[in-house]
Amino acid sequence: MSRITLSRYLIEQTRSHNTPADLRFLIEVVARACKAISHAVSKGALDDVLGSMGTENVQGEVQKKLDVMSNEILLEANEWGGHLAGMASEEMDQAYQIPGRYPKGAYLLVFDPLDGSSNIDVNVSVGTIFSVLRCPERNGATGDLGEEAFLQPGTEQVAAGYAIYGPQTMLLLTLGNGVKGFTLDRELGSFVLTHDDIKVPETTQEFAVNMSNQRHWEAPVQRYVSELLAGESGPLEKNYNMRWIASMVADVHRILTRGGVFMYPRDGRDPAMPGKLRLMYEANPMSFIIEQAGGAATNGTQRILDIQPTSLHQRVPVFLGSKEEVERVTAYHQE
Ligand code: AHG
Ligand code: MN
Ligand code: MN
Repeated sequence: MSRITLSRYLIEQTRSHNTPADLRFLIEVVARACKAISHAVSKGALDDVLGSMGTENVQGEVQKKLDVMSNEILLEANEWGGHLAGMASEEMDQAYQIPGRYPKGAYLLVFDPLDGSSNIDVNVSVGTIFSVLRCPERNGATGDLGEEAFLQPGTEQVAAGYAIYGPQTMLLLTLGNGVKGFTLDRELGSFVLTHDDIKVPETTQEFAVNMSNQRHWEAPVQRYVSELLAGESGPLEKNYNMRWIASMVADVHRILTRGGVFMYPRDGRDPAMPGKLRLMYEANPMSFIIEQAGGAATNGTQRILDIQPTSLHQRVPVFLGSKEEVERVTAYHQE
């Protein structure tokens, strides 16, 4: 059988699930931008793309050169096509306005242009995470698009995905009917469907958490992780293994491939910070993908996709992956 490219998959989605043509175009443009980012990332020291910019983003994090480059690649690729009403990014304080010379479209695109950027300089997998929302009716308003347009719960996402730049570059995508995985064929320059109907196993013996923060966690997480560590002789009666890549894309990709539970809990380091990961462009798109693959995602007390966002860069605790384990750690928060 001939290979199914991303373009063909999207056209077939239009036939079978009425995926609108402008959404199809949007996904193709994002995929094209991810190819350009993949290319830039792979150049490393050859093109002087490693290291820091010497600037900070709105979160007070030092920006890497590739954070800024990836952000620009996504903005430039997406601003002219007429498919978007606005964009928002980890690397930009405010919503990005579509320049007045271009038509505006129905969708909002929110992204983490380069996830796991502490891993760039050490040649470990990084990625791009994106979420697509519909722009609410503006009732004839013509001024700048404010951040309130973006503040929709994750259940409103019409598409979400990530690209992972690892030994292979892959694009994982959901349009709300399952999760598909595409691998970049570098000779052809196209993403080819290689992973049909990805599912997260319900049970697992693998967990991912940054153990160096243990002393700052709340009681339910202390309890859960100590039970994982207790192994066969503890209450869970099995031995667990641990992985922590420090790129959410890579950790989530492993979970989609062979199961596992990923945690970035709230911790006591900075009482003003309810977790590290950002709701709009990390937790929501990843939770949509994980749920579409049969897994679960909560903030400990609530399904992540049900959270009503209050600001663009808001942070949330995250527990996601194999259902049984996410349900267990969520139940411990209720006890
Ligand atoms: P980003 O590079 O976009 O700021 O995201 C990094 C995130 C996430 O990818 C990862 O899971 C986590 O931060 C790693 O945090 P630690 O450095 O605390 O391990
Ligand atoms: Mn990130
Ligand atoms: Mn990032």
